[in-house]
Amino acid sequence: MTPHTVVAIDGPAASGKSSVARALARRLGYVYVNSGAMYRAVTWAVLQQQIDPRHTTAVLELLGIIKIKCGLHDGESTIEINGQNPTPFLCDESVNQNVSTIASIEPVRRTLVTLQRRYADDHDLVMEGRDIGSVVFPETPYKFYIDASAEVRARRRAAQGQNDEITARDRRDSSRKASPLVIAEDAHVIDSSNLTIDGVVGEIIGRLKLKGLQIPD
Ligand code: CDP
Repeated sequence: MTPHTVVAIDGPAASGKSSVARALARRLGYVYVNSGAMYRAVTWAVLQQQIDPRHTTAVLELLGIIKIKCGLHDGESTIEINGQNPTPFLCDESVNQNVSTIASIEPVRRTLVTLQRRYADDHDLVMEGRDIGSVVFPETPYKFYIDASAEVRARRRAAQGQNDEITARDRRDSSRKASPLVIAEDAHVIDSSNLTIDGVVGEIIGRLKLKGLQIPD
């Protein structure tokens, strides 16, 4: 059980989780952790080595030798692989297409979940992902699931200039055996289809106050 406060934000692709989680973390003075970036970074490393993401044995061999370094910059999580910063490449189409395959490999998840949990050793967190409330921090009382209609999500991703088949990715994320995307039983669900980022953050803050969390003015 972590002595630090964790706000877990889960949801499907392009539901607005990242913008909401980042804004919420600023409002609370907590660290913002993007767990999806970690799965994306490993996917980038696999593709860099020209390994077929479906070739699980080769992926695991690589996982055994790469050095994944998670850090913090300006209150946000950072990641380096073998001393390289993969951030500029994390939303490449090739990463979008293959990240769900890499994220379905159990030992990959185990490795990254360990690194995700470590952030809570020293910091209060807002962490976003797919399994934060269900697997990474199941004990936190502060769980949110942000959804939006498929049309709104597709529009949001296209507006980011990205080629990303979110329906296929969601299907893979929801149907995989290892930590699928689920709504944690005790999560508060917010449909962000007709809400602004501030609107969603406001709803979360209201809920956190109701649960007795101290919110800075
Ligand atoms: O931003 P977007 O919702 O498109 O995705 P992301 O949060 O960057 O996550 C990219 C992919 O990583 C997801 O489609 C999942 O396959 C995987 N992921 C996961 O399995 N578990 C997490 N906690 C976070 C991401």
